[in-house]
Amino acid sequence: MFSQDIYIQRRQKLTEKLDDGVVLILGNTDSPMNYKDNTYHFRQDSNFLYFFGLDIQNLAGIIDLNSGEEILFGDDFTIDDIIWMGPQASMQEQAAKVGVKKTMPTRQLFTYVGEAVKQGRKIHFAPPYRAENKILLHELTGLAPALQQEQASLPLIKAIIELRSIKDQGEVEELRKAAAAGYEMHVAAMKMAMPGVWEQTIAGTIEGISLANGNPPSFPIILSQNGETLHNHDHSSVLQKGKLMLVDAGAQTDMCYASDFTRTSPVGGQFTQKQREVYEIVLAANNQATALAKPGVTYMSVHREAAKVIASGLKALGLMKGDVDAAVEAGAHALFMPHGLGHMMGLDVHDMEDLGQTAVGYDDEIRPSEQFGAASLRLGRKLQTGFVITNEPGIYFIPALIDKWKAEKINADFINFDCLEAYRDFGGIRLEDDLLITENACELIGERIPITPEEVEATMK
Ligand code: GLY
Ligand code: MN
Ligand code: MN
Repeated sequence: MFSQDIYIQRRQKLTEKLDDGVVLILGNTDSPMNYKDNTYHFRQDSNFLYFFGLDIQNLAGIIDLNSGEEILFGDDFTIDDIIWMGPQASMQEQAAKVGVKKTMPTRQLFTYVGEAVKQGRKIHFAPPYRAENKILLHELTGLAPALQQEQASLPLIKAIIELRSIKDQGEVEELRKAAAAGYEMHVAAMKMAMPGVWEQTIAGTIEGISLANGNPPSFPIILSQNGETLHNHDHSSVLQKGKLMLVDAGAQTDMCYASDFTRTSPVGGQFTQKQREVYEIVLAANNQATALAKPGVTYMSVHREAAKVIASGLKALGLMKGDVDAAVEAGAHALFMPHGLGHMMGLDVHDMEDLGQTAVGYDDEIRPSEQFGAASLRLGRKLQTGFVITNEPGIYFIPALIDKWKAEKINADFINFDCLEAYRDFGGIRLEDDLLITENACELIGERIPITPEEVEATMK
């Protein structure tokens, strides 16, 4: 947990950004896995962690914007709880850790919010994403779950995004720890990528590394020799020589800060010439994005520049043709990279995505694209000092997509469909680093995981 002052300052800044009413931040509850007391690993709500810091179930925070009063709602543990769980701090002690003076039992939250609703006061809440909190919010405010998304407070959403987008020094240190754990995960995976190894053995091993560094991975591990499936959570195959193993995985520190890296390794430890040619293009796109990312530059423009590196590399290989700028303008490269270059990262691996991706990644100046590929870009707006983002270009050969584009002659002026036949079983390559936007440029968070073909091969020896 950060020092008490950090949480006091964050709530103060939030209060300054909002006019009147009551801010209600719901913490998360335990979620049963197969019966009530057998629960999934607890993950606190990230907004609650940011403003109220306590990584504990069944809490809610209130900030009265008019009076300035802050209250933490939650129940003290009973002697029965303590018998099973061990000694627990009191609510007053917990609240003091984050600089909140007043606590009240959970049942009084109903009275408090009910009274505020009766008085016609504005209740500022973020869109709930868990069923338990949708039900709770319904009980508290009378607002049906189906209406909660549209009735969530836009001023609160905007204020949270403004604050959480800029990482302070303590947060960057946490992100560096997450990156160090991510490094360990990826190097372990590379060393294990040998023919005959079950993907699940590697996925389980690196999940354990994240856990040993504080928490489960920042998202379900993507690990597959079928890397052309972008989010492939199926780890059931046995690795075969000649395939590429794509691993997209990150750790989560004990304070819930994330890392998110992707590396692609040749099963057995040596790239073929064909693999290396495509790999070098993805690496060049990744390096180009890192060279360009700096304050004042839109990430939409960095995405486009990375796309141009990919299109020109594929043109040199004979898989694309025509004018590179025109191909990227037409979205032809998206046959090979049908996703965005990256996203915000922090407490959430896709930071603040619960608040709405357009609100997080776009603004009045830069609106989301509707073009296939670019439409999946989660962050398009101008970068600012203190942003933490990912840089994750890729090239994939997705047979179903190739067949569709070929049959429908989509971007046929820019694609050599006949040459693609030899790549149908190639798989996919993605190379993802995490970046901190600095005063005039950006820096990689953490030591760079082996990434050149030579570094990867040396690691796998
Ligand atoms: N969580 C997958 C990615 O965005 O890289
Ligand atoms: Mn990733
Ligand atoms: Mn990512």
